[in-house]
Amino acid sequence: KDGDSQKVILDINKKAALFYHEILKKPEGEKALSYLKARGITEETMEIFKLGYAPDNWESLKSFMLANDMPIDYLLKSGLLRKSEKTGNYFDLFRQRIIFPIFKYNGDIVALGGRVLDDSLPKYLNSPETEIFSKRNNLYGLFQAKDAIREANEVLLVEGYVDCIKLYQAGIKNVVASLGTAFTPEQARLLARYAEKVLILYDGDEAGQKSALKAGEILHAEKLQVYVVLLPGGKDPDEYIDLVGKEDFLTFIQNNKISYIEFKIDRYIKNRNALYLEDKIKIINSIKPDISGLESEIARDYYIKILAQKLQLEENLVYRELNRTYRPKT
Ligand code: CTP
Ligand code: MN
Ligand code: MN
Ligand code: MN
Ligand code: MN
Repeated sequence: KDGDSQKVILDINKKAALFYHEILKKPEGEKALSYLKARGITEETMEIFKLGYAPDNWESLKSFMLANDMPIDYLLKSGLLRKSEKTGNYFDLFRQRIIFPIFKYNGDIVALGGRVLDDSLPKYLNSPETEIFSKRNNLYGLFQAKDAIREANEVLLVEGYVDCIKLYQAGIKNVVASLGTAFTPEQARLLARYAEKVLILYDGDEAGQKSALKAGEILHAEKLQVYVVLLPGGKDPDEYIDLVGKEDFLTFIQNNKISYIEFKIDRYIKNRNALYLEDKIKIINSIKPDISGLESEIARDYYIKILAQKLQLEENLVYRELNRTYRPKT
């Protein structure tokens, strides 16, 4: 029964994505097509990610779906149509938005994301949580990226749809986006099926760096090898690759990636203006779970050395403060 219901909602999502995708090639989609081109997205990339456009109309998807005999209760369940409380009429969720279909790892389209063409708010709107879609279990771009991720044994984790698409288009194909919300342990376990290493490339602004720390913690706890790059000037990957091009982008990453633990130490140090002994002890204790959770003694020693250097303390003191035994987190 549930399986049948899920199949119908999947079918609705697929039909809706293709409906919006086709509009990009029609006169109604002209504005959207030039918006995407102006952002440097090619038609080939629009095909790969099945980008689309929901026109300036409250009923375009509704008319299409009803003409195709799709049942209204399931259209409502999919979230793509809504019911007006006032009039009882049904209307489209997405209007005047670029459509980013969200694929599950197996290629099923489980939700849609939609972006405005100007700077009105909200900038992005996504399908609600449904029988077939929960944000916490999905990663944008994974379906397109999974072979490249396996091959590289490494995945780049970015914040935004456009970041993901632009890196993929530049030939950096092992990239996924975390769907805007807080990164989850479920998403970490999903990535662990494809690679051992994760490089977090969140927006260079303060919000992005804060989320990077949280995502890093979750990935590190799932035993992935985690690295972080802080992009200059508060830029996001989309802006930065536009600015410097693919080669310099890759060089910057190579030269500036640091391990998650170092990133965390650096952030703690930066956030305290003076480093008194008491500050240093607090920092050591904040980093303690990350270091004592490392299985390898070599790795633990390595990070203790780095911590001691960065805090300008005797290594021995840090060793003693940390207590070197292996304490797996449970
Ligand atoms: N996001 C969202 N809802 C919002 C804002 C953001 O779901 N109201 C998600 C989107 O997946 C978005 C990502 O968070 O791509 C990152 O947000 P932000 O940095 O604000 O957007 P960009 O991806 O940089 O958007 P763009 O480049 O299109 O302006
Ligand atoms: Mn097409
Ligand atoms: Mn941002
Ligand atoms: Mn961004
Ligand atoms: Mn951006």
